[in-house]
Amino acid sequence: MREGQAIAIHRADYAAPAYWIDTVDLTFDLDPAKTRVLSRLRVRRNADVPAQPLRLDGDELNLARVMVNGAGTSFKLDGGQLVLENLPEGTEPFELEIFTTCAPAKNTQLSGLYVSQGTFFTQCEAEGFRRITYFLDRPDVMASYSVLLRASKADYPVLLSNGNLVDSGELEDGRHFAKWVDPHKKPSYLFALVAGKLVAREQKIKSRAGREHLLQVYVRPGDLEKTEHAMNSLMASIAWDEARFGLSLDLDRFMIVATSDFNMGAMENKGLNIFNTKYVLASQATATDVDFANIESVVGHEYFHNWTGNRVTCRDWFQLSLKEGLTVFRDQEFSMDMAGSPSARAVKRIEDVRVLRTVQFPEDAGPMAHPVRPDSYVEINNFYTVTIYEKGSEVVRMQHNLVGRDGFAKGLKLYFERHDGQAVTCDDFAQAMADANPGSPLAQHLEQFKRWYSQAGTPRVKAVGQYDADARRYTLTLSQSCPATLGQPDKLPFVIPVTLGLVGTDGRALALQLDGEAAAGAPERTVVLTEGEMTLTFTGVDVPPVPSLLRSFSAPVVLDCEYSDAELLTLLAHDSDAFNRWEAGQRLMLRIAINAIADGALLAGVHGQIGQNLLPQPLVQAMRDVLRHPTLDAAFKELVLTLPSEGYIAEQLDTVDPQRVHAVREALREQLALALRDDWVWAWEEHHATGGYRPDAVSAGRRAL
Ligand code: SER
Ligand code: ZN
Repeated sequence: MREGQAIAIHRADYAAPAYWIDTVDLTFDLDPAKTRVLSRLRVRRNADVPAQPLRLDGDELNLARVMVNGAGTSFKLDGGQLVLENLPEGTEPFELEIFTTCAPAKNTQLSGLYVSQGTFFTQCEAEGFRRITYFLDRPDVMASYSVLLRASKADYPVLLSNGNLVDSGELEDGRHFAKWVDPHKKPSYLFALVAGKLVAREQKIKSRAGREHLLQVYVRPGDLEKTEHAMNSLMASIAWDEARFGLSLDLDRFMIVATSDFNMGAMENKGLNIFNTKYVLASQATATDVDFANIESVVGHEYFHNWTGNRVTCRDWFQLSLKEGLTVFRDQEFSMDMAGSPSARAVKRIEDVRVLRTVQFPEDAGPMAHPVRPDSYVEINNFYTVTIYEKGSEVVRMQHNLVGRDGFAKGLKLYFERHDGQAVTCDDFAQAMADANPGSPLAQHLEQFKRWYSQAGTPRVKAVGQYDADARRYTLTLSQSCPATLGQPDKLPFVIPVTLGLVGTDGRALALQLDGEAAAGAPERTVVLTEGEMTLTFTGVDVPPVPSLLRSFSAPVVLDCEYSDAELLTLLAHDSDAFNRWEAGQRLMLRIAINAIADGALLAGVHGQIGQNLLPQPLVQAMRDVLRHPTLDAAFKELVLTLPSEGYIAEQLDTVDPQRVHAVREALREQLALALRDDWVWAWEEHHATGGYRPDAVSAGRRAL
């Protein structure tokens, strides 16, 4: 551990920078053993902050020279920082020139400038830029960059950095140069350079607005054939962001580069995204459908950062979810919109919720539990968590649910009108959403809603329903609680959007009319739980209803609702919400499995066959109806007809006998296979692939089934 590393940094201590850096002019002489970096900065004091020395961050740098306005100056080094005390008075800008060297070949942290298989790469998020040169390495210092790269032409024929290539040419001794200018201001964590022997797939496109762009996907020679899907995904991402949110590509050139040595999945450097090869390269011969889907989603994610993260960035690293939660939400919506039909969208939602439940919920219930916007950290690199990303996305999704799809687009528009080119906070985002949607539940409960950013832990929502046939009334009581987490023993109530419907036991979606309302309305609505408990009274209910709650998983909570087998069957057979339909089937199957595991009479079957029929006929029929359904997506059918995993079943048990869990699940599988034998044959005939491989979600779903 380096000196000074173990000190906690607190969100409450945030202070604006004492200096601004307006322009950054970098010259690199690239050499794996010793790269020389000349940095010329235009710096000025921040007049809003008391005068103080300039402290620039640095890490593992060799400092050769410091000049201010062309003349030598005194400086000191303090715990990695370069400290300048004798700076010109006043707030006029001055030129600061810093000459350093670093050793990319020895950089095994893969943070800063490093070499991978003979090619130079950078990774600067979160605090890697200080390993390249001394700088105010914090996201709220946004500057205009120009970058001159010089290197051996034979070893490094391709020289890339952010923005536009404005000049290039030959130098002496077999060297060459390239000069890049980024037209947009950016924080240092979005800086990137790449230099090496690379080849590119290229594509020219014209945006809706009529602007031309050059898209490039750079890989090692030999890998070019594996880049088609990444390029298609990039084009789809660009078109989607324009169509759904009116956000266009703001650069003439957009580049993706793949490397096999990379700490993260991928990185959204302005105009020069750097990716782990596994999210770029795919060939039909070796990649799975999941590999193809991941490429589409990660290419989308990094591209969407171009607005949510790059044009508007984070004031400080406590706000990491401002860009990550929002951008995960955007990539999830992108994949859903690409998938098409409602049940195909539900497939993506189910997959995302599975990750949330199996990875984020345990994090939120354990010693690592932390709020979406943490209050302190020791090492920011340890905060790239499922809570910041996936729960952060759910917090954005709830805002979407509270203002509606169009309201959300309006909120995003206002967010960019207010904050384009700025480094802001999670509060600024929620405020824009609320202000763009006055009168919405989000606007009404904004301060309380923001508890999702500050309180850790997974809330539980309990639902209890009561049907009064004589009065034709159905009463539903919803209550919430949240377990204590480290440092947060007591939680205040959250704002929880609960999207719900009532399904009659006859299968009908009932029109909803709350007590006091003049007429029955739509069969689905989103109610907002803000207190510890609320009671809803539905009137005109002429058949016993089954509540379908938290549709499409409208909030990241654990739902406790005691359903009978018959009620779950009703939801499995009839719920118009595909997510809850799947959920009901899984609950039912899980219940049957657990009962069979506990049933002493079945013990004889542990090591052999379980002869007894475990599947009730109505369940078989409901499964058949899903399998044979004319419009449900094949991928959705596959999810419904797949039994809960042995691991998931085991998690529900106090003591686990793995062989017995296995035997029971196998028996269930076999019984489902036999009971639906003719239906499977039909499904095979209907879905098996003809023609060439296509990676789209519909084709992948057919293969999955
Ligand atoms: N900022 C990067 C990303 O999320 C780091 O993982 O895309
Ligand atoms: Zn991201």
